[in-house]
Amino acid sequence: MTDIAPLIDPFARAISYLRVSVTDRCDFRCVYCMAENMTFLPKKELLTLEELDRMCSTFIRMGVKKLRITGGEPLVRKGIMTFFEGMTRHLDSGALDELTLTTNGSQLGRFAKDLYAAGVRRVNVSLDTLDDKKFADITRWGRLPQVLQGIEAAQKAGLRVKINAVALKGFNEDELFTLQSWCAEREMDLTFIEVMPMGDLGNEDRLDQYWDLKDLRARLGERFTLTDLDERTGGPARYVKLEETGQKIGFITPLTHNFCESCNRVRLTCTGQLFMCLGQEDMADLRGALRASPNDDRLEDAIRAAIALKPKGHDFDYSRQGVAGQMSRHMSHTGG
Ligand code: GTP
Ligand code: 5AD
Ligand code: SF4
Repeated sequence: MTDIAPLIDPFARAISYLRVSVTDRCDFRCVYCMAENMTFLPKKELLTLEELDRMCSTFIRMGVKKLRITGGEPLVRKGIMTFFEGMTRHLDSGALDELTLTTNGSQLGRFAKDLYAAGVRRVNVSLDTLDDKKFADITRWGRLPQVLQGIEAAQKAGLRVKINAVALKGFNEDELFTLQSWCAEREMDLTFIEVMPMGDLGNEDRLDQYWDLKDLRARLGERFTLTDLDERTGGPARYVKLEETGQKIGFITPLTHNFCESCNRVRLTCTGQLFMCLGQEDMADLRGALRASPNDDRLEDAIRAAIALKPKGHDFDYSRQGVAGQMSRHMSHTGG
């Protein structure tokens, strides 16, 4: 492989983590992520699987070590296993350290074995509640048993599972210990996420839903001894160990503790737009550069130019009785 300068942004942050949303579609309609009747992109707008491969391979050549596939729901994209299988070569060569995905779990029953075979070792599954009725409410279209089966299939296939739960006031506050013990029994890690103001809020007011993780952590501390861990998984979560169970609990705190200064990631959408920050509009169209030439020079230049515009961080803030820094873009567009 030729030596190529690493990707460094204007704030001296090295970009080593690419999140790729391979589809904007999803078989669920989580209330904080999508509107109920979303208009999806026409198929012709999407990067083909071959183009996705070329994009990712270029980023990997430029120093990306961690690739996370997201959506929408990544496993509803037709033929997506072909893409995963293509990425295996970068794991085999040592260019890529980790190939992983964030999923709602609904399709893991079908795909867990193939994902393992392609070199995936860890999956993050979004699951906010263990109550059938509440699950149906929050995901609008989802059914809990299918997800639980998917999680079981993933573990059987040898995949390590991390559960991601968005912390929602009045929704899953009462399930803090249920979720924690359910994960402990199954040897799964658990990460809580502060809800971010993304998408048209409509009548779902994020300020009412917002449950800050300082409070959640304090409640955990009433029952368990918490030890802060230094270990990182490459994402923004900070972990504690519950001494009594040995399990790891993660906290993703865009609101109470801004982690932007150590941001190492950018996001590619299924149409080839590169978003430099989850909480800002800054974006570059890489599809044009990719399609302009069969060699990757233009694409590399476009990627470097985009990284040079990476903003310092998001402006999300609920502290002044209102919601600041809100993004009209839906989370499903950039995959979280
Ligand atoms: P691992 O550390 O590998 O487990 O992954 P991760 O936490 O980076 O990935 P995951 O998809 O589980 O991310 C969980 C959620 O954290 C995302 O869906 C976002 O909601 C949030 N998140 C991840 N990265 C950022 C970021 O750069 N900024 C903000 N504000 N939120 C982020
Ligand atoms: N705030 C925080 N997390 C969100 N997610 C989706 N929308 C939001 C939001 N508004 C999470 C999902 C999933 C990941 C892809 O992003 O629960 O874990
Ligand atoms: Fe689908 Fe995930 Fe968005 Fe829920 S959060 S609608 S599962 S993309």
